[in-house]
Amino acid sequence: MILDTFPTAEEFYKTYWGKKPFIVRGYIPQDVIENLVDGDTLAGLSLEDSIKSRFITNNKDGVGWQCEHGPFDNDHFDDIGDENWSLLVQNVEQYHTDTAQLLSYFQMSPRWLMDDVMVSFSAPGGSVGPHTDSYHTFLVQGIGKRAWKISNELITDDRYADNPDMKILEHGFDGETFEVTAGDIIYMPPFFGHEGKTLEAAMTFSVGFLGPKLSEMLGDYAQYIEENENLNKRYMGASLEKNDAGFSISATTQDSIKNDILATIQSDDFSIWMAGYFSTPTHDEIEEIQISNDELSCEEVSSLLQDGETFIRPEHIKITITKSSKGDYYLSAYGEIILVPEAQKRLIDALNQGAEISLENVGKEDDMIKFITAIYNKNFICLTSD
Ligand code: SIN
Ligand code: CO
Repeated sequence: MILDTFPTAEEFYKTYWGKKPFIVRGYIPQDVIENLVDGDTLAGLSLEDSIKSRFITNNKDGVGWQCEHGPFDNDHFDDIGDENWSLLVQNVEQYHTDTAQLLSYFQMSPRWLMDDVMVSFSAPGGSVGPHTDSYHTFLVQGIGKRAWKISNELITDDRYADNPDMKILEHGFDGETFEVTAGDIIYMPPFFGHEGKTLEAAMTFSVGFLGPKLSEMLGDYAQYIEENENLNKRYMGASLEKNDAGFSISATTQDSIKNDILATIQSDDFSIWMAGYFSTPTHDEIEEIQISNDELSCEEVSSLLQDGETFIRPEHIKITITKSSKGDYYLSAYGEIILVPEAQKRLIDALNQGAEISLENVGKEDDMIKFITAIYNKNFICLTSD
């Protein structure tokens, strides 16, 4: 369970992803931990209407959970005492740049499936109870100390305590307990039991990955087709034959309808949609969180680079990449798509790995400047100095 280092990407997917929890002690450097969101700032975020938050209390035996949903009033925090509570806030990576930096430590994960960073601020004794999640989660311990009980296998017992707000495993689960302190991480696969209890006031950062349901993807793709009139063909019954008379749908016609539907999926349109879909934050208020650069011309971008300015991809922005059947690439951030050749895709790979765009890195070629201007104006990147 406790590994000396983070597994290689190959080992990670082969042995752990979705299969087995692990702990790496001291994986996140202390200077990164120091800059993560603190309890007061987190409480401030929980006052905002557009940010999802919960306040969970338990009794002193570590059971008897109660959950209130935010947004909270400032005076909510006046009488909470100093034991047995947890404040949980979702999507913190969208609101706190230094917290989003945590994501750069999970490059070997499928970043395009990252849903959010949920942060919990908990007092000694605080616990949200024994539970499982549909998410793959990296639990990053910030300040403080917690004891995590972890199951080493999938939990199939899905009997939950009678509590409308929380899915607490009524009968708990068997597992081993580990104490974690600042910088330690735990990988929890979906549907593995876990329960954290706070020993010293703690900040925990849950980096969560969640695949959409097939119905969600098909529904979204259907909407994408609907919005693109030339893709939204009507079934005209062109190849019908005598066996289709009346109310029977012949086997040939069933195949032909299936093939029409499959053809819309086995197309570049589907790859375009996929890039857009997985780059769109799952947060409801996208307009509010999207960066909005003032438009720049190619000349302005060129002179900024010559003045020594650099551009970066803010860590919470997903620039997803899919490949077209012709070998070009579709890039997307916030659902905005661009088609680019291999050379420009390499620049996006570098940005996704945390590189900066500088005059030394990209030179002055017109095509490159045009590309950087396009992705800046589409809000994929921003000036490092902003
Ligand atoms: C917590 O930090 O207590 C909850 C995180 C989780 O279990 O996903
Ligand atoms: Co959990």
